[in-house]
Amino acid sequence: MKNFFETNGYEISNLFSTTEIEEYVFQLKKILEMQCKKMRIEYSNEIFITVKKMQDVYPKAIDESFQILRNSSEGHRLASNINLKKISNNLLNKNENDVLVVSGPSFFINFPNENTRKYTWHSEQNWYPKRRNFLNVWCPIIIDRDNDNSMELKKGTHEKDWTYFSEYTGYNGIIDPNANVQYEIPENLISGYESVIPKVKIGEAIFFDGKSVHRSLDNNSDNPYFTIVFRVFDYSNDLTLSSNWADIPYNRQSIGFPDINVSK
Ligand SMILES: [Fe+2]
Repeated sequence: MKNFFETNGYEISNLFSTTEIEEYVFQLKKILEMQCKKMRIEYSNEIFITVKKMQDVYPKAIDESFQILRNSSEGHRLASNINLKKISNNLLNKNENDVLVVSGPSFFINFPNENTRKYTWHSEQNWYPKRRNFLNVWCPIIIDRDNDNSMELKKGTHEKDWTYFSEYTGYNGIIDPNANVQYEIPENLISGYESVIPKVKIGEAIFFDGKSVHRSLDNNSDNPYFTIVFRVFDYSNDLTLSSNWADIPYNRQSIGFPDINVSK
């Protein structure tokens, strides 16, 4: 298993029980109901209908709902799941009692025929430039089919540092101030790497290296896909003392230290 991860930069593992996911989704629905009430949107227990309405009225309300969920007991429970810690320890080459920092669950929604929430080719390394050893853990939580296959990954791209990228707000060749910020790695820089589109069931997760290049795929179904993501960081050889996983250089606020004592 570990060999596969080391060669390809990713692996699929069982992570959460169905009950854990159900309790999380139940809490999500309660939060969406609360937000809808505040916005005078008629709430439907059919989550696909509710989020579509929210996306049409005020997309930010969805983001805030997931932020609330992240800070709820149900969110913390997923972040403190023992499998998450054990698998991450193993893949990051750490021991049982070594320090790991878990951020998340963050969330992604991929709406059919809509691009504003999608990401083009990128490496998480460029979002967390001070972090040298970390994982992304990508878990579908609501899908209307057996597997989620809405993410594409380039095998072997974890072997390289992806320092350079093109930064813009938009998607699919279009500059759009309402879309996501892209730290895009142009396709021709990764054309030599083999693509994979993993099929992931509810309860499973793709664990992939912080350097692996990946992107969202079009959602060709009738309903949005809901995914949560954790980042699991090993800070031990980072050239900063900062607690903030998103610490960034060049802003004179990064918390380095003279001759900082880390390994290569
Ligand atoms: Fe990503």
